[in-house]
Amino acid sequence: MELRFIVTAGPTREHIDPVRFISNPSTGRMGFAVAAAAARRGHAVTLVAGPVSLSTPRGVRRIDVVSARDMLAAVEEELSAARSGRADVFFVSTAAVADWRPRRMAASKLKKASMSGILELVRNPDILKTVGGCRKIGFAAETGDAVAEARRKCREKGLDLVVANDVTAQGAGFGARTNRVVFVTPDGAARPLPLLSKAAIGARIVKFCEALSRGDVDSQWLGGIG
Ligand code: C5P
Repeated sequence: MELRFIVTAGPTREHIDPVRFISNPSTGRMGFAVAAAAARRGHAVTLVAGPVSLSTPRGVRRIDVVSARDMLAAVEEELSAARSGRADVFFVSTAAVADWRPRRMAASKLKKASMSGILELVRNPDILKTVGGCRKIGFAAETGDAVAEARRKCREKGLDLVVANDVTAQGAGFGARTNRVVFVTPDGAARPLPLLSKAAIGARIVKFCEALSRGDVDSQWLGGIG
């Protein structure tokens, strides 16, 4: 059973001018791990990556983007192509998308003397919330009660799974090679996983998607995923 995966990864950059931007320290490791795991299982995978310095996993088609709006456009194009096929389509959104962008990007480098010290920002689109017609897997990186926030995001964005983690926990968060996550499903169930490598978490997310596609996910199945 081949599935179709579209995975976003890494940060986005929101330019102020050609040499300055707003971004975050996401390395893209989690998304690249999901893409690699899905390709290893024989699925068709497109990875939509923000600016990162990782090499493309074997068997994965990669599209590089810069801003959140570029990322949304690439995901929508991939989704509409994927929906015309027969495979179940999974959108796995691991990207740390910048929530805000400067209202205007200057065409040339701003001069220090001409900058007022005030930068006007506007909201970026929420890619995960916006797209539809596919199964959706989201991430919730929190600094507090990750499970409560994940349950809220699951409802608000219509997700099939939220992978929640407390980014302040040891061995978790941006740049780490490991992560401690909780799988939160739309029924509110929360299944904590042990501390695992991002590769191992990627493999479990792909397993979840395969089980969902077969209609197999229930509390007993989830109980066995750790
Ligand atoms: O609401 P919050 O940003 O915490 O949600 C995190 C989830 O939503 C992640 O899966 C992230 O990839 C996705 N997201 C998105 N577009 C945004 C913000 C977040 O796709 N603008």
